[in-house]
Amino acid sequence: MIFIMYHQINELLFKMILWEIEQVASSATVSTEKFSLHLNRISRYFDMLSSSFDIMKEGMEREQYLKFRNTLTPASGFQSAQYRKIEFASTELINLIDFRFRATIDRNTPFEHAYEHLYWQVAGKDYKTGKKSMLLSNFDKRYLEEFITFMKDYNTTNLWTKFKQLPIEDQQNNELVKAMRHYDYTVNING
Ligand code: HEM
Repeated sequence: MIFIMYHQINELLFKMILWEIEQVASSATVSTEKFSLHLNRISRYFDMLSSSFDIMKEGMEREQYLKFRNTLTPASGFQSAQYRKIEFASTELINLIDFRFRATIDRNTPFEHAYEHLYWQVAGKDYKTGKKSMLLSNFDKRYLEEFITFMKDYNTTNLWTKFKQLPIEDQQNNELVKAMRHYDYTVNING
């Protein structure tokens, strides 16, 4: 119960994060103050996610966890659709493409092809045959269409693109640069 409920708590926080990102993405013009305001809220939620992860380490007994974990297979937090949406809404698609295929993908590449080359696709494929695991094929079956629509929606309104649309002097604003770096660190290093 702890394991599942903690995933549910994380999904609630992911929803609050997506709500903050949407407010920046849907604003035609966004001031630096407003950008920093939402970014700091997003980072605070991610700080909660990383600081509370001890609930997983200390909140369950290892024996109990090992007894039930396989019964949930092939389900995994990996199949968090909101987590993937946070990635799509935070940066440009090319930055989420598996590095080995980046040179072959650009803004004219069909979204379906880009999707098949996202960095996390490799985690669910047999490296010899390329065959998708049940975990990944179930995930695709459930969310592929929704993800393609979401990728299109945030293609030019994601946080990174919105940041680059700010006046140069604003892009060098210390508070904003600090907030961007903190977000990057919280998700990619601390997360
Ligand atoms: C005891 C706690 C946990 C363990 C042992 C664990 C283990 C794992 C493992 C082994 C993976 C790699 C994919 C797989 O083989 O399933 C993974 C991926 C992932 N897990 Fe967890 N997980 C835990 C808790 C959580 C929680 C609470 C969340 C919140 C939703 C979460 C979200 C994710 C995400 C989003 C990925 C994909 C990461 C990426 O591809 O960038 N996990 N986890």
